[in-house]
Amino acid sequence: MTSSGQPRIQWLGRWGFMLAATGSAVGLGNIWKFPYITGEYGGGAFVLVYLACIFAVGVPVMMTEISFGRRGRGSPIDAIRRVVNESGRSSAWSLIGWMAMLCGFMVLSFYVVVAGWSFSYLWKMLSGGLAAGSVDDIAAVFGANNANPVNLGFWSTLVTLLTMVIVGKGVQEGIEKSVSWMMPGLVLMLVLLIVFGVFSGGFGEAVSFLFSFNVGSLSSEGMLAALGHAFFTLSLASGAILTYGSYLPKEASIGRTTVSVAVADTVVALMAGLAIFPVIFANGMDPGEGPGLIFMSLPLAFQAMPLGTLFGILFFLMLSMAALTSSISMVEATVSWLCDNKGMSRQSASWGTGTILWLISTLAMLSFNLGADWTLAGKTVFDWLDYLTSRWMMPLGGLGMVVVAGFVLKSELFREELGLPPLAYALWLMMVRYVSPLGILIIFVDALGVYPVSFAAHWPWLLAMLVAMAVVGEALSPRLRQALTSD
Ligand code: TRP
Repeated sequence: MTSSGQPRIQWLGRWGFMLAATGSAVGLGNIWKFPYITGEYGGGAFVLVYLACIFAVGVPVMMTEISFGRRGRGSPIDAIRRVVNESGRSSAWSLIGWMAMLCGFMVLSFYVVVAGWSFSYLWKMLSGGLAAGSVDDIAAVFGANNANPVNLGFWSTLVTLLTMVIVGKGVQEGIEKSVSWMMPGLVLMLVLLIVFGVFSGGFGEAVSFLFSFNVGSLSSEGMLAALGHAFFTLSLASGAILTYGSYLPKEASIGRTTVSVAVADTVVALMAGLAIFPVIFANGMDPGEGPGLIFMSLPLAFQAMPLGTLFGILFFLMLSMAALTSSISMVEATVSWLCDNKGMSRQSASWGTGTILWLISTLAMLSFNLGADWTLAGKTVFDWLDYLTSRWMMPLGGLGMVVVAGFVLKSELFREELGLPPLAYALWLMMVRYVSPLGILIIFVDALGVYPVSFAAHWPWLLAMLVAMAVVGEALSPRLRQALTSD
């Protein structure tokens, strides 16, 4: 029930939530961000930590978030408050929901800029604006696209408008329908690029870059980046998945859905890596190029392949769609909160949110031209939005959520909500109580650099320690639980 007394709207089809959650998870994070940060942090070792974070932290956090949403039937703030109140605990825990909502909003403020890149490349593909011969030419196109604030602002404004139109239309019409056809299309385009990579050189190098584990290249900073990215790519701790979960029918299996979404998301990211790095290596480009990586590499591949223009158009079309199905999820929390608590209609909540979003995203957009020197500690507005959300707010929000689920709530509550067989439930509980929070804390403390030795260099110890702590923790848990929850 919402506060207005109406039963909350639910997903239409059996696959509605699955589609929408996959649409939220699969986006620029997989195809734009994953390859470029993998390049920056040196490849294989980063990929391994990322995979570990997805399954040891991301999956349990996602199950927790969906449970909060479905149990509390509301925006992150309301849902968390209701669920903790149901266990007789303090409403103050709903601060986690406030942070999540803010985080989703902040992510979208820079996400629309990147989505704008994708739309503008779609346009360039259509209009022949990418017909450049060399690596340097393509890099120059990317530079020129950014240098003009009116041009860049046009594209990010367009993305903001499209997002708000879809969100304004509502959950079933707007969100559910758009996802079902674009996901297969995107995967098809990636397969094509991978096949192209196999035949045009650089593929072997790409595979060894992505999958050979080299401890030397694992840094504390890289580990935190991998953790943050696991949250980002699964749309966690930012209200998106929680709010989508609030529309989930009672019968759906949270465990199975979560695992499918996480696997699909990971497969798309790895495919993107396999599609992009062959082009990078075959053209002698730098994998650590940064945020422009895919925009400087893929046009070269399209240019060299038969029917390249057609495939290029389809690729950027799919990428733009994937960006939209993610961007709509980032404001869903805010819009649903405004509707439930401020009595606003979906339309006015969307447009109000969109206006503020547009102002902040304009600042992020200016980071690439007029505002390139508006820096603090060497970071532009765009960099700050990315850094604060991925490195701080999401890991801390995720930590808050698992601690509440593992120690603060009555234990029957999520046992009932998750509906898992006993063994799977015990595994989830061990993850949210020990593995996920300790993993987050250790990576955090390590990256802060306050601890004298680097954990990154001693990862087998780290792993062993985690397991030992989980076992000891479980033995102590009734006491620990009491200590943490007695008011
Ligand atoms: N997961 C999406 C991607 O990988 C991005 C995304 C959607 C997101 N919703 C989010 C990121 C909420 C952070 C918060 O592109």
